[in-house]
Parts: sequence; structure tokens; C-alpha cells
Amino acid sequence: MLGIAVLGCGAIGMQIVRALAEGRVEGRVVCVHDLSRERAQEAARLAGAEVADSIEELLQSEAEVVVECASVDAARSMLLPALELKKQVVLLSTGALADPELLRRVERFHGSKVHVPSGAIGALDALRAAREGELRRVLLRTTKPPRALQGSPYVERSGLELSSLRKKTRIFSGTALEAISGFPANINVAVAVSLAGLGTERTMVEIYADPEAMINVHEVFAEGDFGRLYFRTENLPSRENPRTSQLAVLSAIALLRRLGGVLQVG
Ligand SMILES: NC(=O)c1ccc[n+]([C@@H]2O[C@H](COP(=O)([O-])OP(=O)(O)OC[C@H]3O[C@@H](n4cnc5c(N)ncnc54)[C@H](O)[C@@H]3O)[C@@H](O)[C@H]2O)c1
Repeated sequence: MLGIAVLGCGAIGMQIVRALAEGRVEGRVVCVHDLSRERAQEAARLAGAEVADSIEELLQSEAEVVVECASVDAARSMLLPALELKKQVVLLSTGALADPELLRRVERFHGSKVHVPSGAIGALDALRAAREGELRRVLLRTTKPPRALQGSPYVERSGLELSSLRKKTRIFSGTALEAISGFPANINVAVAVSLAGLGTERTMVEIYADPEAMINVHEVFAEGDFGRLYFRTENLPSRENPRTSQLAVLSAIALLRRLGGVLQVG
């Protein structure tokens, strides 16, 4: 049975631990770590696992797979050491791979794998297939309630008054690379779409603020010699963290099921 270490015991981490502890997915949590010792202890109790005091200690555990569901900073610091130790990594804080130098170093590794779940969106499998032909255009359009965009560096810089918007308004249009620095809260989705398709410099991103919106909507449009695709996700938030979509939690659990399974679909 696959031995799993969980880094980050928040909304995503706790649901993963629960799914494994309840036997809904095959695998055994051997070790957990969180900056909050209380959370780590709760997860460890649920799963009958050890608590590690640091990321280094977590990586030294016997686990074959490390699930990172903590933060972009945590992901940055654990990726290369985990690969050195021949661990497989399930990476939720996909934003870490927006750093081209880190991405290049990760891609050079042999003998291990970094798995990026589809997270809060879909269509990554189709983009991956489409780029084997000529993939000409990929656009990610994200629509959020204005309050979810408040405080983003791009909004602060441009002096946009989001609270005065009366109708759905496009507030940003640019490359994924530009979107990543302007809207760090959108970073995981923009990086995942870029990795599957055309990269951060050729993937286009539009961000809409909609005062009527209650939830986040992500739409992926693509065109190439395969034809065209359109994929829309209307994401309900997870119960534990309103900023995290429940689909992202489920995508991580589905990925773990896939790792332990024989049949690989998509
Ligand atoms: N790929 C996607 O589509 C997607 C979707 C949602 C969230 N995410 C990312 O997944 C990660 C987890 O999301 P969440 O909703 O569970 O967050 P959360 O805030 O509910 O939980 C994160 C947990 O990680 C812990 N943590 C943070 N930094 C740490 C560090 N350096 N070392 C140890 N523990 C640390 C926190 O204490 C917290 O308990 C975030 O980075 C988030 O951006 C990705």
C-alpha cells in the first residue's frame, strides 16, 4: 500500500487525510507536517500517523509520495529535496512552478515524478493532447466577485475601485505571466493551464469582476489543428476554506486514487 506524507493540514490536507483514513482511497498516511502543530496533531490522530516537526523531517519519512497542500513557499522549498530523495510529489501549490528556473530544474530530474492535479479547473488532459498537434491559442477567463479580487497587486497598482462596479467588467487582459504577478490568488489555475498547454508567455488570461457573482467561474478556450474546445467550471467553495474550490480538493483525492490504481484514464 502506498505510503503518503502530507505537508499542510488545512482544507485540502485534512480532506485527503480523511479520505485515506476512512479507506475511500487506498494508501496509508505515514507522516504529516503543518506550521500549526495543533492541525498536524489532529490529522495524525485521524490517520494514525507520525507528526514531523519540519519539512526536512517529513521528507525523511518512509513515504513514497509527498502531497504538498501548504503554500507556494512551502512547495518551493520542498520540491527539489523531495525529488533528490526519489519521492513522488503531488503538488497543489502549482504556483511554485511559475518560477522558470525551478521549473527547469524540476524538469531535468529523472527517476521521480511531480504530479499536478487539475485543481479547480478541467480540460488539462485535452490541452495536453492538443499541443501534440498545433495548439494555436489558449485563453483562461476567470470571473470572481469583486471582493475576491480586492487587494491584488494589479488592482492596488491601477487604483481600480472594485466596489463601485455595477456590472460584470473585464479588469485584466494579458499573458499568464503577467496575470501571475498581478493576481497571485489566481496563480495556481493560470500555471496549471500554462503547463498543460502553451506556457506562461503564450497563454492568455482575462479576469472579470462581477458584482452579481457568488462563486468563481473558470473558462478555458483553446483552438488548434484538433478543432476548438471550451470548458467551464462553476466552483463551489470547500467548507473549510472559502478561497479553495471543492473541486481542487476532489482533484487531489482523485489523483491519489489514480496513483494506486491500474487503469489510467485521461
Ligand atoms: N491547484 C489548485 O487548483 C489549488 C486550489 C486551491 C488551493 N490550492 C493551493 O493549495 C494549498 C493549500 O490550500 P488549502 O485550501 O488547503 O489552504 P489552507 O490555508 O486551508 O491550509 C494550508 C495549511 O498549510 C499550512 N502551511 C502553510 N505554509 C506552510 C509551511 N511552510 N509549512 C508547513 N505548513 C504550512 C497552514 O498552516 C495550513 O494549515 C495552497 O497553496 C493553495 O493556494 C491549489
